[in-house]
Amino acid sequence: MPTVIATISLKGGVGKTTLTAGVAEFLSGEFGKHVLLIDLDAQTNLTTMMIGEDRWLRCNDQGHTLATLFGDALDGTNLFDLHKTVQRGVSPVHSVTGVDLLPSSLDLIELQEELSARRVAADDHAAIVDVLRTGVAPIAGDYDYILIDCPPNVGPFSLNGLAMADAYVIPTIPDVLSTYAIPHIQRQVADFGAEIGRTITELGVVVTKFRAASALHQETVHRLRRDPTIQNVLPAYLHEANVIGAAAGYTAHPSLSAKYGHHGHHEQFRRVAQSIMIEAEVKVGRS
Ligand SMILES: Nc1ncnc2c1ncn2[C@@H]1O[C@H](COP(=O)(O)OP(=O)(O)OP(=O)(O)O)[C@@H](O)[C@H]1O
Ligand SMILES: [Mg+2]
Repeated sequence: MPTVIATISLKGGVGKTTLTAGVAEFLSGEFGKHVLLIDLDAQTNLTTMMIGEDRWLRCNDQGHTLATLFGDALDGTNLFDLHKTVQRGVSPVHSVTGVDLLPSSLDLIELQEELSARRVAADDHAAIVDVLRTGVAPIAGDYDYILIDCPPNVGPFSLNGLAMADAYVIPTIPDVLSTYAIPHIQRQVADFGAEIGRTITELGVVVTKFRAASALHQETVHRLRRDPTIQNVLPAYLHEANVIGAAAGYTAHPSLSAKYGHHGHHEQFRRVAQSIMIEAEVKVGRS
């Protein structure tokens, strides 16, 4: 059984996608894990980071994206082909060989409205949030980890991600506006878990874009660590760095150390991935 972890926050631009992509690469490249990435965001950022724009366009033209899965659920069609949609051996880093991807599509924007309306109208609310879990089930057992990148909201796609997640992480920039949203997302995940009758375990807050020279960042991290409602701030932070920002581009690298450089960012990202793995092992009981 895989450990399924969603990356979620209500605040946009806090580094969710960058974190999810990097953690998948490190889990595969340095810890030998087999990882499935699921891109639930219509912005398709995770998808283009992992397969580049040209391959994504081909997938999109052929209907080999998650939009087809959700379209089937709405239209009663049966067009989604899981085995053709899953992109194998993704990531532009050559030493990363164990990451697969279910790509996103801009078409999710329109589908979001329809799914939301259907969820309100449907007798069976659970069916609309169970589309992803059911669709992925035939291959889920092939993986050690399934990492799900959610859009910055708790709409129908995020709920589909959460409905199959064992656990979630909340990335945050340690500043005022980014951290406001943490209690809200914790509550929404807990309420949704209660609604569907499962516990979705919080692994913790991941500090992103940390600037050690910023008094505000230092103070906010201390405040988060003292806050009793924040269950856990993971011990490793992702610092703000050009090499981490540059990971958004689809650029070939021979190895993760070549991609993240030799100024400590490689080791930092590795420790972030490792701490998520350890939290998952302790709190979800699988590895
Ligand atoms: N540690 C970092 N250092 C420097 N730049 C970063 C870092 N993390 C992310 N970025 C950059 O910040 C921007 C936002 O990051 P990202 O897309 O990962 O955030 P997100 O939370 O997924 O955004 P959205 O809410 O739009 O999905 C991107 O341009 C990314 O390259
Ligand atoms: Mg994103």
